[in-house]
Amino acid sequence: MTAKLNVSDFLHGGDYNPEQWLDHPEIIDQDFNFFKEANINDVTVGIFSWAQLEPEEGKFDFSWLDDIFDRAEAQNGHVILATPSGAKPRWLADKYPEVLRTNEDGSKNIFGERHNHCYTSPVYRQKVQEINRKLAERYGHRKSLILWHISNEFGGSCYCDLCQGAFRDWLKAKYHTLDNLNRAYWAKFWSHTYTSWDQVHSPSPLGDQTLLGLNLDWKRFVTDRTIDFYEAEIKPLRELTPNIPITTNFMGGNPPESHVHYDLDYQKFAQHVDIVSWDSYPNWANDYESTAHLAMKTALMNDVMRSLKHQNYLIMESTPSQVNWHPYNRAKLPGMHQMGSLQQVAHGADAVNYFQLHQSRGSSEMFHGAVITHQLSDKTRVFKEVAQVGQDLVNLKPAKVTHHQAAKVAIVYDYDNMWALDDSRNYSNETKKYWRTIQEHYQYFWEHDIPVELISTQDDLTPYTLVIDPMHFMMSEAFTEKLRDYVQQGGHLVGTYMTGLVDKNFLAYLGGWPKALHDVYGVEFQETTTLYPKQHNHVAAFDKTYTVNDYADTVTVDTAQSLATYQDDFFAGSSALTKNTCGKGTAYYVAARTEEAFLEDFYDQLADEFGLKPELPIEKQGPTVSIQVREKAGQQFFFVINFSEKPATVTTTKSLTEVLSGQNVAAGAQALKPFDVKVYTV
Ligand code: GAL
Repeated sequence: MTAKLNVSDFLHGGDYNPEQWLDHPEIIDQDFNFFKEANINDVTVGIFSWAQLEPEEGKFDFSWLDDIFDRAEAQNGHVILATPSGAKPRWLADKYPEVLRTNEDGSKNIFGERHNHCYTSPVYRQKVQEINRKLAERYGHRKSLILWHISNEFGGSCYCDLCQGAFRDWLKAKYHTLDNLNRAYWAKFWSHTYTSWDQVHSPSPLGDQTLLGLNLDWKRFVTDRTIDFYEAEIKPLRELTPNIPITTNFMGGNPPESHVHYDLDYQKFAQHVDIVSWDSYPNWANDYESTAHLAMKTALMNDVMRSLKHQNYLIMESTPSQVNWHPYNRAKLPGMHQMGSLQQVAHGADAVNYFQLHQSRGSSEMFHGAVITHQLSDKTRVFKEVAQVGQDLVNLKPAKVTHHQAAKVAIVYDYDNMWALDDSRNYSNETKKYWRTIQEHYQYFWEHDIPVELISTQDDLTPYTLVIDPMHFMMSEAFTEKLRDYVQQGGHLVGTYMTGLVDKNFLAYLGGWPKALHDVYGVEFQETTTLYPKQHNHVAAFDKTYTVNDYADTVTVDTAQSLATYQDDFFAGSSALTKNTCGKGTAYYVAARTEEAFLEDFYDQLADEFGLKPELPIEKQGPTVSIQVREKAGQQFFFVINFSEKPATVTTTKSLTEVLSGQNVAAGAQALKPFDVKVYTV
């Protein structure tokens, strides 16, 4: 069952904790006035309010929340109502200690912090359902309620006996017999053979950490367990408010790597939410990369979130200025707030929400950036920049119905693969860097304004002209066949070093690659050389020579054609890049990790050959300006963003309207200030 988010404006608002200010009603009055001024049209409430909503077991106090709904409705605002399970009240932990989380080493937490409950505990599930039912009964009919926000940033895992039992049940359902389990885990190794299900225990520093199949299954189980808990949470909401959509705020893109979220398989989880929302905290203005480089990584993360359901999504949290948990908590420079906020909209976000609307006065987040800070003023730089974005979103209303332009290019990524590769006890833990590799492949397309979808192995490949499948170390046989079908039917595929080595059980493929993979690439994998950081090989290709870093596969060429050769080492002269025709399509195998210039030249050729470059009425001069397109039924909005502290110029090739200013512009040069954003439409 899914429900749709029914709002016609872009959302602009975010986390609001009025329960911290109940003895200061004048502050709440002023907050709502300031919201109006900054075009803030939604508040996300109740996230960590359980102790305020249910001060004693079974005794509820909704008066303060009623008041917030009334205030929001009085100014035609929307409410995103959170379920409070992310932080439990003390009475709950005191009375029912089973709800407290147990750590990997078996130690049990005492009450404290947040996000630390057991996902299996029947008591916790029951208590959560009770409070959620009350919330749905009381607020389900309010006209301002647009969305349920389930808990907060689900994460972590519990290792208590209840969870161990659930893990064993999960394994029984998967493997049916102990023989199957022993075979899958290659358990004869080091005499690990299981003779009873009770012997199965999660990976532990005190026990097993080297059964690679077990490690991977535990990670898969943690995702399934979290989803199971989430499904239990939403039961009363689905029952009482079937038309109110449900989301939970995902994470990702945090510094320094801007890595996709690691611990939970969001490709799976996303199938259970009605709309994807996520918390975006890039560290703009850092000292180790250009703004454009971080913009590329952040663009990728937005594309990841959009691609989870191939739909528009919401920014559930972002900071108006700085956070309090980066290694250095620098505020955004003037203009960066608009730049970063509208970048998200450009990629398909329908909301720019903040953590937080009003800065908390004490405790750990008291200095985290907020729309309304301790100054209690609408005259701060941050407030004014937030209000500017609020106005922008109002001006952009005609673009609300649009979607990010459909991509012809897809990059595959896969959680099982990411986890397995990291746990592979091979290569170098310092340099594997799966996500960075994905960023490196994405970079060319971002710099050339070519839309990219980030897809899972479950997705249909046929909408794409080009599918890029980097470092696909753990690949199911089913997926090898899917790749072959795709290419045979005319698709174009790029694969790289470290591909197709183990099956879904983490067992090596015997006798070489699965046949379908061999058919598709027309080469046979031989071995991977792991280079030390100071060692390099070189590749001769496209009349140039490129440096090879970290990894070099050697392959024997069968039906493929060799497009590049290694220059050094014992494999000098062998193929480093191959192209194979398979049915109506082609497949390229990039055997080595190279400097970025190689990928740039390689993808430039493919982009020309396959007609991937979009036709835009705006020309740019360099990669630090990004142009993203949102469109629907012939109407297009071109988001032009200068990700640089230097001014830039773009050329419009016909007369256009600039939506943020409402001005018509003639064809010709258009100046962009540092970090500037223009949105053009025809
Ligand atoms: C998020 C969290 C919020 C707040 C914020 C601070 O991860 O969901 O509750 O702590 O970080 O940046």
